[in-house]
Amino acid sequence: MTNLSVVGLGPVGLCSAVAFATQGHRVIGFDIDAKRRGQAAQGEPPFYEKGIETALRKVLRAKRFSVVDTMDAAIEPATIVFLCVGTPSREDGSMDDSGLRSATKSIAEAWRDGKRRTVVVKSTVLPGTTDHVVRPILEAAGRPFRLGVNPEFLREGRALEDALRPDRVVLGADGPETARILKSLYRFAKCPILATDLKTAEAVKYATNSFLATKVAFADELANLCDALDVSYDEVHKGLGLDPRINPRFLVPGVGFGGSCFPKDVRALVSAGRRRGAEPRLLEAVLAQNEVQYQRAIAFLEEELGDLNGKRIAILGLAFKGDTDDIRETRALPIARSLLAKGALVVGYDPLAGPAFSQVVPEVKVVDSVKEALAGADGTILQGDWPAFSRLTAKDFVTTMATPVVVDGRRILDPKKMRGVRFHRIG
Ligand SMILES: NC(=O)c1ccc[n+]([C@@H]2O[C@H](COP(=O)([O-])OP(=O)(O)OC[C@H]3O[C@@H](n4cnc5c(N)ncnc54)[C@H](O)[C@@H]3O)[C@@H](O)[C@H]2O)c1
Repeated sequence: MTNLSVVGLGPVGLCSAVAFATQGHRVIGFDIDAKRRGQAAQGEPPFYEKGIETALRKVLRAKRFSVVDTMDAAIEPATIVFLCVGTPSREDGSMDDSGLRSATKSIAEAWRDGKRRTVVVKSTVLPGTTDHVVRPILEAAGRPFRLGVNPEFLREGRALEDALRPDRVVLGADGPETARILKSLYRFAKCPILATDLKTAEAVKYATNSFLATKVAFADELANLCDALDVSYDEVHKGLGLDPRINPRFLVPGVGFGGSCFPKDVRALVSAGRRRGAEPRLLEAVLAQNEVQYQRAIAFLEEELGDLNGKRIAILGLAFKGDTDDIRETRALPIARSLLAKGALVVGYDPLAGPAFSQVVPEVKVVDSVKEALAGADGTILQGDWPAFSRLTAKDFVTTMATPVVVDGRRILDPKKMRGVRFHRIG
């Protein structure tokens, strides 16, 4: 059993904290946001994640996890401190490390006892950040530290499951002792573990997200080309997958990628590369392609309905994907804004993300059910891949909508079962 602290209780921090506590460690959580701390301490996760509420309550009851109100209380008992704060995009696309800097400074201030601790960066940070941002702050404060990097690969919506049963673990260490400490923390993981240096571990995370974003953008572009050339993407995709060099997973075309990671991480890598004299043309193209992909869904509506001015359009799914309430960079945002700019009346529904979405785009009428969203609609765009949406039938659209024009932006419905529906999907 190890005493761990987790600084930052967003999806990454809280799910990691609960997972480590479930593995038998004693975990202390801290967040600068008092509301988040209060919710986590009460067993009420500040965001939706399948299974997290039950697991959180269990580790709180067992006193394996507790949430404290000061950084001092978080650092004092810990031998390992995980940094899980956000690393968002700046206006120019570069990585904003101000949260990481201020969290590291607070850790250094709270660390007064001369005890050696291992500080592990779990936040997604550009190669070199741990050495050039975290290290000098701890050195200047004279703290006896070891440094590690442990990038997080969890998928929102399955975050807890991924934290409990990772399919790979990447550990960056500043030396053999740190590597040993980190490996022993992950003894439970029945998966490949890559032990490497700090910078490489940081880079692996960007390589992974950039490749996955590229796969999505490639699938989108290929599907657009299939439409232009009048061939079926499904068949082409099957054929692609027969090549043993190509993994056919994650090649689902639609309205593009969003979320808190892919867009900002690819932007950060492009921006860092450019500053160092590289020309990341492919990743720039991935971002550019993703920026406009959602417009294909709107073009389908215009093909069917003509001018969208005054038309009632439903958006099903407001979060960036199903099974989450996270609206960061969701494609529902540009879709809604574009429809509103064209004079459409936009109605939105999401099982979880409605209130958060309303705050950002109050002009969208957010309703409480799929039925309400579809009622009287001239067209609908399926933007989220919630399982409940994939069970919608032709009858649901035909009997509720004014005109049953449906654009499946996530490829979750079977076109063969959409009799009577003016059904479109990309590819
Ligand atoms: N969300 C994901 O799916 C995911 C997956 C893998 C990696 N990541 C990366 O992990 C990191 C965290 O992601 P997230 O989605 O949990 O972020 P988040 O922004 O949702 O949560 C970060 C938390 O850190 C807190 N915080 C900020 N500064 C602090 C400080 N000085 N002291 C204490 N707490 C502080 C914030 O209040 C917030 O609650 C990011 O770098 C992200 O890119 C995220």
